[in-house]
Amino acid sequence: MFRFLYMLSPSFRRYYKSQIPLVRAKDPAIKEDREVLLYPSFWAVYWYRKAHKLYEKGEFYKARKLSQKAARKTEIEIHPGAKIGKDFFIDHGHGVVIGETAIIGDDVILYQGVTLGGTGKEQGKRHPTLGSHVLVGAGAKVLGSITIGDNVKIGAGSVVLHDVPGNSTVVGVPGRVVVSAHVNPDDLNQSDLPDPVMSEIDNLRRENARLKNRLYCLDNIVIGSQDMEKAQERLKQRKEQAERAGSAPEEEKK
Ligand SMILES: CC(C)(COP(=O)(O)OP(=O)(O)OC[C@H]1O[C@@H](n2cnc3c(N)ncnc32)[C@H](O)[C@@H]1OP(=O)(O)O)[C@@H](O)C(=O)NCCC(=O)NCCS
Repeated sequence: MFRFLYMLSPSFRRYYKSQIPLVRAKDPAIKEDREVLLYPSFWAVYWYRKAHKLYEKGEFYKARKLSQKAARKTEIEIHPGAKIGKDFFIDHGHGVVIGETAIIGDDVILYQGVTLGGTGKEQGKRHPTLGSHVLVGAGAKVLGSITIGDNVKIGAGSVVLHDVPGNSTVVGVPGRVVVSAHVNPDDLNQSDLPDPVMSEIDNLRRENARLKNRLYCLDNIVIGSQDMEKAQERLKQRKEQAERAGSAPEEEKK
């Protein structure tokens, strides 16, 4: 029971109070203030802040021990070396992984299954840097030492491998910028993100229809399909005549 005495400390109370408006702003599902204690994000970030202090003091083992304990309890793994700004929130949380050299600005929201990881082929700074007011949708993977600008929205399931300029939306695998200079960063609606694959298919459909039209015009207006059939018939007749006469027509000899 003594394990929970830290909950009476002024620093914990301050943290608890700071989380109430944050969670209320980010998750419409919350009904009562004390529900913040039930969010995995609440505990993961609380233990991360403690572990990060230890990490900065050079107490790496203790820092990792704390962060692994938090990972087991919350299913959110934040390396104590990561740098995270204020008003950071992880909705749901399961399966979130944040690497050692990741840097996260202020007012960033991640959904479940997000990885801010390395590609496996970089050394040193090998995790992404996220600006402020960034939203990363469920299951998105942001990989490598890349920079994501302020006010960026990353669609659920995207795999982002390159820098993303501020005020844009990126979706897809690999991630592509589909909207630039949007928007309201507080807009949590992810259902109306554009679909780059569908718009590419639409473009191909339009191009196909345009080419079919052109072929149709060439066939009927310039050459004329009936003329083409007649020309083929004439060529066949001349071949037969040439065979009968024992010699090929002049044009074919050439
Ligand atoms: C696939 C991977 C190993 C890189 O392999 P690689 O051979 O070095 O690949 P490259 O970086 O040269 O990329 C080759 C192409 O594949 C694409 N690509 C790379 N990784 C990709 C991924 N995960 N998903 C989709 N496309 C990917 C690249 O955009 C590139 O396409 P392009 O040539 O059109 O630009 C790496 O990107 C990856 O996914 N590593 C796993 C990282 C991971 O799981 N981290 C978790 C840490 S907790």
